[in-house]
Amino acid sequence: MAKHDDTVVSEHDGIQELDNQLPRWWVLLFQFSIVFAVVYLLTFHVFGFGLKQEERFKLEEEEALQLQELRTARMMEQMDFSAPTTLPDVLAEGQTIFLNNCASCHDVTGRGLIGPNLTDAYWIHGAEFDDSMHVIAKGVLEKGMQAWENLLSLRQRHAVASYIYSIRGTEPAGAKPPQGDLVEGSDSPTYAL
Ligand code: HEC
Repeated sequence: MAKHDDTVVSEHDGIQELDNQLPRWWVLLFQFSIVFAVVYLLTFHVFGFGLKQEERFKLEEEEALQLQELRTARMMEQMDFSAPTTLPDVLAEGQTIFLNNCASCHDVTGRGLIGPNLTDAYWIHGAEFDDSMHVIAKGVLEKGMQAWENLLSLRQRHAVASYIYSIRGTEPAGAKPPQGDLVEGSDSPTYAL
């Protein structure tokens, strides 16, 4: 039987079975796949050296999150706090800060209550963005507006200042009468930009 040639080993109903040698590349491939299966089994399921699919996914997810945090941190570093931003995420955060901390005196619309209207062209403490940043940080203690520099971070103050900048010129109904000096054109969210 150990003959490897075209010897006919059996014949049934006119169909011949030959004793051909398997091609060498095929046998090698077959042997390799057995070795591979053993190594794979030991690596992933017996000794746990390798990462399974879920583990690798988790790792990559973590890496992606870290990268995202790094990008946000870089963006924050690069963000210019001396000018209002128009980034929707930051404005949304600013609006939340405004509603929670400022709306009680400036109204939810910014039209003014105890505090002045923030949407018109009249300003007591200046119309520039820097002026708003300053008033927010230091407050106007004798008039009842507290200093926010210890309660809100610079980033948060920048977000809320950007938000009130964005609502300039919205002309809310029932707005408080003008207070302070008229600064032409300052009732626009693009004033001095
Ligand atoms: C307790 C009431 C009160 C709260 C809360 C308050 N403010 Fe004021 N705000 C005032 C008053 C009063 C003034 C006017 C001060 C003056 O007459 O000199 C003022 C002035 C301002 C001004 C200057 C307006 C101008 O005409 O120059 C800005 C800007 C401002 N506030 C923003 C904010 C922001 C932002 C917040 C929230 C983080 C806030 N305020 C919270 C009462 C308040």
